[in-house]
This record gives sequence, C-alpha cells and structure tokens, in this order.
Amino acid sequence: MAGTCIIGLQWGDEAKGKLVDLLTKNMDVVVRYQGGANAGHTVVVGDAVYKLHHLPSGIINDRVLNIVAAGVVVHPETILREINSLVDRGIDVQGRLLLSDRAHVVMPWHLIEDQLWNVAVSGENNIGTTLRGIGPCYRDKVGRSYAVRVGDLLRADFADRVREIVAARLPVLRAMAGEQAVDLNAEAIIAEFTGYREQLRPFIVDSTQILLDLVEQDKRILYEGAQGSLLDIDHGTFPFVTSSNSSGVGISAGAGVAAKWLNKVIGVCKCYSTRVGGGPFPTELLDETGERIRTKGREYGTTTGRPRRCGWFDAVAVRYTRRLGGIDRLALMMLDVLSGHDELKICVAYELDGRRIEHFPGSADELRRAIPIYETLPGWQEEITEARDLADLPEAAINYIRRIETLVGCEAEFVSVGPDRAQTIICDSSRAPINAF
Ligand code: GDP
Ligand code: IMO
Ligand code: MG
Repeated sequence: MAGTCIIGLQWGDEAKGKLVDLLTKNMDVVVRYQGGANAGHTVVVGDAVYKLHHLPSGIINDRVLNIVAAGVVVHPETILREINSLVDRGIDVQGRLLLSDRAHVVMPWHLIEDQLWNVAVSGENNIGTTLRGIGPCYRDKVGRSYAVRVGDLLRADFADRVREIVAARLPVLRAMAGEQAVDLNAEAIIAEFTGYREQLRPFIVDSTQILLDLVEQDKRILYEGAQGSLLDIDHGTFPFVTSSNSSGVGISAGAGVAAKWLNKVIGVCKCYSTRVGGGPFPTELLDETGERIRTKGREYGTTTGRPRRCGWFDAVAVRYTRRLGGIDRLALMMLDVLSGHDELKICVAYELDGRRIEHFPGSADELRRAIPIYETLPGWQEEITEARDLADLPEAAINYIRRIETLVGCEAEFVSVGPDRAQTIICDSSRAPINAF
C-alpha cells in the first residue's frame, strides 16, 4: 500500500507544487482529485519554471502517469493550452495523462456567472474568486439537471444538450446582468467544444477503474491537493472558501479511492500566512512588515496575479487543519522569506469577545472578531537559501521551526528555503512524533 497525500494547511499557495515535484521521483502516479483551473502550482527546476493550473505537477517528470480524477472540474481550453505549452517545451504527455470521463466540465455559462456574482456582491461579502467558473460548475454538478461531464463531450446528443442548457440559462444570466450584454451562443459553443472534444479524446478514460487497478497493483500514488484546508467548502472559513473539499477529507471522494489506501498525509504550510481573495484573516499584517513579506516572498497569485494578503503564522489555524487532515508530517515552506526580521510572531490563541479561545472558530463572523494572541520569538538576519541541513540554519530559525512543530502538534519532514527543488532540507523522518495534545 503506497498512497501519499499532499494537502495545503492554510488558504492555498503553500507551495504544494514544489513538494509534489520533489516527491514525484519516488512515485508511479500523480493524481489531481479536486478543484480546477483556480489552482496555480509552481515547479522550479534550475532555470525552468512551470506554472500548472490544471495538470498534476507530476507531468513534468516523463516517467510518471498523471490522472485528472472525477472530483476535478475541467476547463478544456485551459487544460489544452497547458498540454500544448508543455509539448512546446519538449514534454510529451501522450500516454501519461488520463482525464476522467466523470469529471465535470466548466462551460462558458459558468464563467459568465462567476463574473456576474463577483461584481454583484461587493465589500466584505465578496469572496474574490479566481473567476474560473468553479462555484457555478460545482453547483451544477450537485444540482445535476444542467451538468456536463467530460464523458458527455463524446456523446452524440452533446449539441442538443448545449442548446437545451443555453435556452434555460440565458434568461437567468440576462436577469443577473441587468444592463450588461450576455454573450452566450449555443452554436458557437458547440463548434468550440467540438474542437476541444477531438483534442481531448485520446486522454478521456474511466480513470476511477484504472486508479483502483493501480491501487490494487500496489503502485506508488501521490494525491496532489489543490487550494488549502481553510478553503474547504465544509470545514473552511465559509462562505470565503472554494467549492470543493480541499482539506484532507476530500481525497477519497475526489479520487474514488478508499481512505484505507491512503497511508501518509503530508501537510504543507508556509512559515507565515497568506490569503488571496476575501474573507477573515486574523493574523493579517496591513503594515510595512506585511509588505516586506509580500515583496521577499513574491506573494502575487500564480493564477490571477493578485497581491496576496500576508500575515504571521497562525498556529491555531494550522493545528486545526493538521487534525482535520490527519497529517503525519509537515512541510514548512518559505522559511527563507523570514530572514531579516528582528522578531517573529506566532499566533497561539485568539481573544474572542473578551475570552481566550484555543480552537479555530467555525463561523466567519467569529473569526472576523478574533484577535490574535501572539508569542514573540527572536528572528535572524542571515540569508538561508543555501542551507541544505537543519544544522546549516541559524539557531533562531531552528527554534522557530521547533516552536511551530510543538504548537501545531506535528513534526516537519521538509523545510523549504527557496523555490528550487534543491533548496530543501529533509529532516530526519525517523524521529518519534510530537504529542503536543
Ligand atoms: P501552490 O499553489 O501551493 O503550489 O503554491 P504557488 O505555486 O501558488 O505559490 C508558491 C510560490 O512560492 C511559487 O512561486 C514557488 O516557486 C515559491 N516557492 C516555493 N517554495 C519556496 C520557498 O521555500 N521559498 C521561496 N522564497 N519561494 C518558494
Ligand atoms: P492553489 O491550488 C489560493 C481562493 C480564491 C477565493 C476563493 C474562491 O494554487 O493553492 P474559487 O475561484 O475557487 O471559487 O475562489 O478561493 N482560491 C485560492 N487561493 N490558492 C488557490 O489554489 C486558490 N484557489 C481558489 O482566491 O478567495
Ligand atoms: Mg497556487
């Protein structure tokens, strides 16, 4: 049995792509099982930088099979653009990429609706989505009546289905749009998607069956989470979340693989916090310190280019998502970004309505009112991007890591000190686990 999972423990962009790439050398298969083109995973190998939105990050390793599983929402144009750009860079995906016929398709009406909602809801209620049609597509999946699956692209009645859905959707979208024009033409969509169908045809399979076979053949499988646990539709900071189960609880549902086949879960988090889009963020730094982290960490969205909101490490939040995901080991990323601060703060509890609480509130309203209670640790001045062993780090950096491990209740297996594969410290994974709680 060899199922390893990579889960983001914060609000996404924890550098999951880097870790997936690092672990891929010991894997046979990499699986994306939820989310869609809202993700943006970066892999850096020497001078080459790959930004993957739709394909599993294992795709750049030519030995590995990659599966886009049933729980993903597929945007054909984006996935094809990504395939073609890899081919242009000498990475052939033929025979190494499988696309589930059960995955749902993000259709043009989903993109329009995402856009319209984003404008209609303003101020602090705005989710600030990536505008990739994610919410509307997942809603249609759950609603069933107007859903389109990848397998449907191959059906003879696909054109009629598009005509039927456009006829039903257009009045609704027009009502939402008010004065704005809505550009939704069934015949143009049919022509566009007929082109996509032919290009995607070689990849479309019943990936659930194939994945179950691979599991039973004891293949080494890596499950690549998208987004982060705090964006989970059920257990995150609702409604400022994405529309899938992006914490550890989503792996089995999205991949179609029972939990008993998943034997190691690695929780990825930055050594500070970021969030892109709306929603409460207790440790956010709206001052010069936040700006320094954003600049040094190049904290701008991989998918949308938006500046990411930056803040101190929130141990209350990560302790919660560590428990939620059944995390075995941590990967602590971007430690190098924290060089140059006299002091670093870690949130160890919140004050909520005058009371100290140590749990992560379940409602966005409460989280908005939560005031972080900080512990202050000494910082370090040295640049650490050349460190390859824990012993190469300044004592203050080691103490900072140890404090995070203790507060979160889990040991780090990886500490990352730069974007490149090589800029990684692999800690001794044979240490006995911390039992902080
Ligand atoms: P993902 O969505 O979780 O895969 O993360 P993103 O790719 O959206 O954002 C992580 C960013 O940090 C990318 O630009 C990575 O190249 C970069 N990165 C990864 N690890 C490190 C690190 O340890 N230090 C620094 N400075 N950058 C890193
Ligand atoms: P990766 O996989 C960071 C955020 C959006 C928005 C909310 C809902 O790169 O970590 P959606 O478009 O999903 O309906 O947007 O979720 N979001 C992400 N933030 N990283 C991501 O993916 C994200 N995917 C969605 O900014 O707040
Ligand atoms: Mg990202």
